[in-house]
Amino acid sequence: MFQRVALVTGASRGIGRAIAHTLCKANHAIVVASPEIENNEKVAGEICACGGDCMTLDFNVASPESVKAGVESIIEKYHRIDVLVNNAGITRDALAMRLKPADWNLVLQVNLTGAFLVSQAVIPHMIKERWGRIINIASVVGEMGNPGQANYVASKAGLIGLTKTLALELASRNVTVNAVAPGFIETDMTAVLTEEQKQKMLERVALKRMGKPEDIANAVKFLASDDASYITGHVIKVNGGMYM
Ligand code: NAI
Repeated sequence: MFQRVALVTGASRGIGRAIAHTLCKANHAIVVASPEIENNEKVAGEICACGGDCMTLDFNVASPESVKAGVESIIEKYHRIDVLVNNAGITRDALAMRLKPADWNLVLQVNLTGAFLVSQAVIPHMIKERWGRIINIASVVGEMGNPGQANYVASKAGLIGLTKTLALELASRNVTVNAVAPGFIETDMTAVLTEEQKQKMLERVALKRMGKPEDIANAVKFLASDDASYITGHVIKVNGGMYM
């Protein structure tokens, strides 16, 4: 029998999928939530095959209606949500001078507003239980900046600000709120980079290799655990020494 219920947004692949698997092994029932219905089912199948408990949600963090309906169906099935991992994220890169307003808005809407909407819908359930963990997946570039990613960097820097404010608002209710800031991780998001771009990035990484989705998942597992009960409002850097 599982001990806690974890909602992982963007769990259909990459870092979210690794977080789903890692939290499942740590005794959590998993809600695999993304707009990719087929991939959601694939991840759920993998979790069930390992003996885990899970459900899938066709879920768009940027849509208040989708968020409301999704959270309601989790409560219907599990009656609570203990851990929320705001992992869903997208990029639409261009130099600021050429960035289309639509791409600015879309990235902010998914990466930042999405995390806010899901948190807002989940918080009352955590407060009711007097226990909760919100873990936001930010990015190394949210702290250091990155040319060509004004929209993405602004969204991740905003997410760090949201993390700190929610941590202050919810501390008295025994809900902790932290962020994990990944560096350069092997997923579909970075697979689109050219070999030259990858080599240039790796020059800045002290450990001289890309991280794996599991490296991020392990930090999330720690923050979700009772061992992290005195940590709130922090950003854990998991970046191989790319930025300190
Ligand atoms: P990915 O592109 O492989 O997966 C993104 C996930 O987000 C997918 O499951 C997708 O379905 C979901 N998603 C996209 N739009 C959504 C929406 N509107 N509602 C719900 N789900 C949505 O990306 P990856 O690499 O696994 O990234 C996961 C998180 O980690 C993102 O927030 C990303 O910004 C962050 N990150 C990734 C880094 C990397 O090097 N891969 C570095 C730093 C941060």
